[in-house]
Amino acid sequence: MNDFEEKLQHCLDHLEDSRVKEAMLYSLCAPGKRIRPKMIYAVLKAYGVNESLGDGCAIALEMVHTYSLIHDDLPCMDNDDLRRGRKTCHKQFDEATALLAGDGLLSEAFGYVTNASNQNSLNHELVSVFVKMIGSNGMILGQMIDLLSEHTQADLKTIQKIDQLKTGCLFALALSCGAILANHKEDVPKWQNIGFKAGLAFQIQDDCLEVTSNASIMGKSLSDEKNEKSTFVSLLGFEESEKLYKRYFDEIETELKELNIHAEHVLELFRSMRMRDH
Ligand code: IPE
Ligand code: IPE
Ligand code: MG
Ligand code: MG
Repeated sequence: MNDFEEKLQHCLDHLEDSRVKEAMLYSLCAPGKRIRPKMIYAVLKAYGVNESLGDGCAIALEMVHTYSLIHDDLPCMDNDDLRRGRKTCHKQFDEATALLAGDGLLSEAFGYVTNASNQNSLNHELVSVFVKMIGSNGMILGQMIDLLSEHTQADLKTIQKIDQLKTGCLFALALSCGAILANHKEDVPKWQNIGFKAGLAFQIQDDCLEVTSNASIMGKSLSDEKNEKSTFVSLLGFEESEKLYKRYFDEIETELKELNIHAEHVLELFRSMRMRDH
């Protein structure tokens, strides 16, 4: 993927040096898989558009994703110590700094989205889709229901809703940004469906990896059991869950092939997600 890591390292250069900036960079530049930026770039390529057009949205989305992880790891949420192969932000710094680092990344993200394209109408569309997907009917709602479903066994519909919202919304957002930036707004609903299904597939796979992998390979604490989370694995068992996420990845592949675009890069990305070990 172009020189995205370099861009991330410099994306906060406009900020005054401070402890909160240090914490923001610590978490943002830690080795994440960068799946959501890769989705934006892959969709742009599918439409034959220069991928550098996606830089602003890609940086913004990775900032939002990182903020969500910093807050997700806090003691009042999943209470985890390891993320992206490093101490979690609140362990490396402190809870108040981690809270502010998350807030800072969310705020700076909007600085990038509002200037993501040189067409104002597209920037307006992008801000709207960001708010919809990351807000309190989107990712935030998924996180809320996830927390409320601890220590109980939520039913299938509820777990589906959690995964589609907490994970699917950011994938749907990434794919939508690609279509909007490429001036193919009419395709956004199709991309969003694929994104929600990908969220489901990815999150069920993540729950399965909690069983088969370990914290050092995953680079993060594996805490579903400790937190008595309601997951597909806790409801259906490992084998059924494994079958289910593979089926969702198969369905995504079929849906991508039905889109009237050069989907190879997107297909390749989803195949690499399916094969991931962390
Ligand atoms: C972690 O997402 C949170 C989940 C949705 C399971 P990623 O697995 O994409 O995390 P990074 O960005 O590679 O750390
Ligand atoms: C994280 O979900 C989803 C968001 C941060 C929005 P999880 O809590 O299941 O993921 P990990 O295991 O901490 O990465
Ligand atoms: Mg969580
Ligand atoms: Mg967590």
